Amino acid sequence: MARIVAGVATSHIPAVGAAWDNGKTADPYWHPVFKGFERSKEWIAKLKPDVCIVAYNDHMSAFSLEIVPTFAVGCAAEFPISDEGWGPRKVPPVKGHPELASHIVQSVILDEFDLTIVNKMEVDHGLTVPLTLMFGQPSEWPCPIVPLAVNVVVYPVPTGNRCYMLGKAIRKAVESFDEDLRVVIFGTGGMSHQLQGPRAGLINREFDTRFLDNLTKDPQSLVKISHLEYLREAGSEAIELVMWLIMRGALDDKVKEVHRFYHVPASNTALGHIIFENATR
Ligand code: DHB
Ligand code: FE
Repeated sequence: MARIVAGVATSHIPAVGAAWDNGKTADPYWHPVFKGFERSKEWIAKLKPDVCIVAYNDHMSAFSLEIVPTFAVGCAAEFPISDEGWGPRKVPPVKGHPELASHIVQSVILDEFDLTIVNKMEVDHGLTVPLTLMFGQPSEWPCPIVPLAVNVVVYPVPTGNRCYMLGKAIRKAVESFDEDLRVVIFGTGGMSHQLQGPRAGLINREFDTRFLDNLTKDPQSLVKISHLEYLREAGSEAIELVMWLIMRGALDDKVKEVHRFYHVPASNTALGHIIFENATR
């Protein structure tokens, strides 16, 4: 039986990927950011997951306004890196796990939770920056990835509660997969950020800290946060935090918080990161 053994949440700020790609990790501005992930890299290198499921959002790279799937599961064997304006990041292509991805699709859809099946897709910073932060720069990524693209760009976007419930359905799917796989699930994006308009650069440290605290001890209280509340309190792009609830929904009610990191500013956003282990792993 496959099992979800741990969950990782992290912001996926593109400037962090660019800092890595351009050899700026030791710069005074970026050093604290990468230092916050040193323990994370050691932790995941020791854990050696067989597969990672990564909930992220596409930023109009693979999709466009023509087609906007709410939840899309990448079932391909490989996902090329998208060109977001400066050429594709020079990171290894992302290898998928078509068998597990198809099984998740089968199980979750029959659980009355409709997903979009994607057999060809490029992946952008939403997925690749978290991989860089957790795995560094290997010649190939250490395990296959199941991308789960969530629409948080075009309204209506899914509610936090729907995301949390999707996490639970994914867990059930993973646990009914025959092979003995140890799976880590990622939620990416967030925390406070507003990229445009008069409030650009908005940071709400209190909101972010409460979110991190409750993600550990009372996730149920977070599923009730409305879209308007995310926007008002933590900025328009803070809505990406609903993807952290997919990760949390897939874990035990009680989890062990292994690591937490919060840093402001990174680009003009807050960078948040937290790692949980399942008690039942
Ligand atoms: C930025 C973009 C993102 O997608 C994000 O999640 C955070 C920051 C940016 O352009 O700075
Ligand atoms: Fe984003």
